[in-house]
Parts: sequence; structure tokens; C-alpha cells
Amino acid sequence: MRLATLKKNEAEIHENNFKIIGLDDEAGVIKTLKVILERSGYEFKGYTNHTEAIEELKKSHFDLLILDYLLDNINGSQVVEIIRSFNKELYILLLTGHSECAPPLETLEKNEIQGYCAKSDDSSQLMLLIKSAYKSIAMMNEIKMTRNGLSNILKAAPQLFQLQPIDVILEYILLNLLEIVESKDAFILADNIVKEDSEKETYYRGVGKFNTDINTFTTMFSPLHMMYAGTARMQHKTVSYESGVFFPLLNDRQESIGVIYVELDDHKKLDILEIYANQAASSINNAFLHSLLSIKNNELNKTYEIIKTRYEETIDTLRLAVDAKDEYTRGHSDRVAKYSVQIGKCFSQLKENDLALLNVGGTFHDIGKIGTADDILLSDRKLNDLEYQEIKKHPLNGAKILSALSMFNEIVPLVMYHHERIDGKGYPNGLKGDEIPFLARILSVADAFDAMTTNRVYRQKLSLEDAIAQLEKGSGTQFDTVIVEKFAQLLKSKEIEID
Ligand SMILES: [Fe+2]
Repeated sequence: MRLATLKKNEAEIHENNFKIIGLDDEAGVIKTLKVILERSGYEFKGYTNHTEAIEELKKSHFDLLILDYLLDNINGSQVVEIIRSFNKELYILLLTGHSECAPPLETLEKNEIQGYCAKSDDSSQLMLLIKSAYKSIAMMNEIKMTRNGLSNILKAAPQLFQLQPIDVILEYILLNLLEIVESKDAFILADNIVKEDSEKETYYRGVGKFNTDINTFTTMFSPLHMMYAGTARMQHKTVSYESGVFFPLLNDRQESIGVIYVELDDHKKLDILEIYANQAASSINNAFLHSLLSIKNNELNKTYEIIKTRYEETIDTLRLAVDAKDEYTRGHSDRVAKYSVQIGKCFSQLKENDLALLNVGGTFHDIGKIGTADDILLSDRKLNDLEYQEIKKHPLNGAKILSALSMFNEIVPLVMYHHERIDGKGYPNGLKGDEIPFLARILSVADAFDAMTTNRVYRQKLSLEDAIAQLEKGSGTQFDTVIVEKFAQLLKSKEIEID
């Protein structure tokens, strides 16, 4: 029997090295199959001897077997029977001579043969069957992957929920995670927010290249990583980018307790990983609730201090980088911090901690501009709509950067809402009046004032009197009336000096 002249198929590239093995006693058929299959992008190995083919199948993995039903000294169904004794997964297509030589349906079913095709000069039917086999196998693999992932999760569950110390749990979570996704590198950053005073507890555990001390880790965590981690924590969603994925860890009250990062090139398993991340979060939370904290206290504080210091240093570098972008705004964030604290002191309801927040919030309020293109930031002409939209992203981007660690939670609203307006016409959320956090309202006035009283590329600075007049003009629409009033008093009485 021969598959004589076969039409050329257009070359196709197939993912995942789809491997086909062929067995036909006619060397010509094998040769032809090799040509057309390889041209279509499949990997092919052909045999004319069934013993050799079976041996090869025992040794190596193939996805599909194309088998001649009528071999010289053995029947195709006998070959299938032997193969099925050690391989139940292989997809098998029989090649038959004439339709009357087709194997009975019973044989096909019994041996789990997925299809057959009459040999013909036209290869299109065979190619179509191979294509559909490829699709079914891809789908089966995905189902298998999901099933394996789920069974791994189930397997891990009992141990995850045993009352074990947090460091043991974190390690266990990571090792299981790597098994599910076949990755080598991952880390968990978690904060204990169960107890009142627990903000001082930050746990870090890494495996693979992240299996380092906390000092080295902080050098591996770039501003971009911070923003991804912060987005995952702030928006409670999985954030994936080309080389990895951040999963948020939430507790029962849907508060962020940390983030899991795993390095990943194949993003097919995200659904499974999300399920796993949920489990992981519950077990971490469980450990927090039961105070299963075996890490010594001084070690914990060390971790917290190192992360905090490094993070602040990084943010400060970002801030200076933003300030340095524009020589006109240099020193802007320091002045905004200073004015904000001075305004804050006029309000007796504000505590020491609030003033500290105003100071840090003022210093960091524009760090989100690190992601804004220089030609937009430094433009001396009127920005077009698209460019203005770009600028308007900086409060949210800043909030994301700060959200990577819960220790900055209290500053996030200040940064996020410093461009909101009392009349609701601000950004990013268009909050109105009291909806805008009070400290953010203070920051907004201080920010606008400093912008008015320093030279900008596109205009000269205003005099103190004109700046106060501008604030008063915006009072009740852009700015909080009481805050403007207090600030104006401080300026008029020279209790605040302009640098
Ligand atoms: Fe800003």
C-alpha cells in the first residue's frame, strides 16, 4: 500500500514539540510521512519494524502514533494491544488500505484507538485528523495539569492547616507552590495584621534565587517590582508580567496580609495558583491567629527594620529622582511636607502620628511620577489630553508603590488623594468634600501653594499675596475652606516663611 504523491501542506509551527511516531512496513510511506509532517512543524520518527517502534515507545515520550493496520507479519490491533499494556495515554491513528479493510468498531473501542484514515494520494484528510489530535491532546494536557495541580493542593492542605510555626508554614507553602508550577524561584512577604501592635511584624521567606537574607532580598526588589506587588495588595488581584506573577494574600476580612511572588514563563496555571494562594493565605492567617510565631522576636524586628529602612531608602531615591527630573520643582516635596506639618499643627484634633504622616506623605506625594515620561513632565507647553491623562496616573502609581508593604498603609490615602478637589472635579476618583481624607486635603493646599510660589518652566512664581489670593479663590471648590483659612493666617502672620 502506498501513500504516493502527497500534496504539500503549508508549514505550521506547533507548540510544545508535538511528537509523532509512525509505523508502516513500507519505507516509502514512512519517508513520505516524514516529509509532510516535518514540513508542518511536527517532530516525527518513523519505523518499518514493529519491535523497534515498540521499544522506542517504551523509551521515549510520543503524543501520537500513526499505525499501518495491515503490517506484514503482525496485525495492527495486536501491536496496539502490546502498546496499551504499558502506555494508555498515547493517541493512536490507524492507517488503513481500503475502507473494507477498516478494523471493526469494537477493536477501535477496546484498544482506545482514537481514529483511522484510509491511505490516499491526498494527505489532507490525514493532516486534518492529526490537527484535531493535536488539539485534543493539548486540551487533555491542560485538564491533566489542572487535575494534578488541584490534587497537589489537596495533598498540601492537611499540612498547611496543622498548627505549625509561621516560618515552617511559609517554607511549606513555597515548596508546594514550586511543585505545582515547576518553577524554582519564589518568595512570600507577609505582615501580621491580626494583632493591634502587630504592624511591626514582617515575614520574608524565599526559595531558589530568593533564598537569601533580607538584606540581599531588598536589593533584588526593584521599584517596578514594588509597584506590581503594591498593585496586587491594593487591588486584591493577581498581577502578572513577563517573568513572574504576584498573588495577593488576603485574610478572612479581605484585608491584604502580604504577597506571594513566583517566577514563571508559562502563565497557563494562573487559575490553579490563585486557588493555592487563597489556601496559603488562610493557613498564614491561621498561624497568625494562633500566634504560631516561632521566629524569635529580635529576628522579627530586624526583618521589619531592614525592610522598612531599605524601602524608605528606595522610595527616597525615587523621590529625589522625581525631584531631580525638573530643576524648577527641586525641593518641592520637602517644602510640601514642611507646609503640611505646619498647617496640621493648627488643628488640635490632629495627633503626633497625624503630623508624622503629613511629613512622610508630603515627602512622598509625587513618587508616582517616576513612571511619567520626562517629555510630559518637563513640557513647557500646554499638555494634550493624552499627556494629561498620563500625568493624572501619578497619585495611583504612587499609592501602588507604597502598598507593597503594609507598613505604609496610612500614607497611601494621602498620596492617592492629593489631587482630589472639594467640588469632586479632581482625580483619580473624583471624591467630594469630606470623602477626601482630611490629611490629603491639607496636602493638596500645601502642594498647590508651593507650585504657585516657585518658578516653573511655563511661568514665573506668584508673589505671596497673589498666591494667598489664589488659594482663597479656590477655597470651597478646589480646596477645603477651613484649611485655606488657617494656612492664609499662618502666611499673613509670617508664622510660615517661604523658602
Ligand atoms: Fe502631585
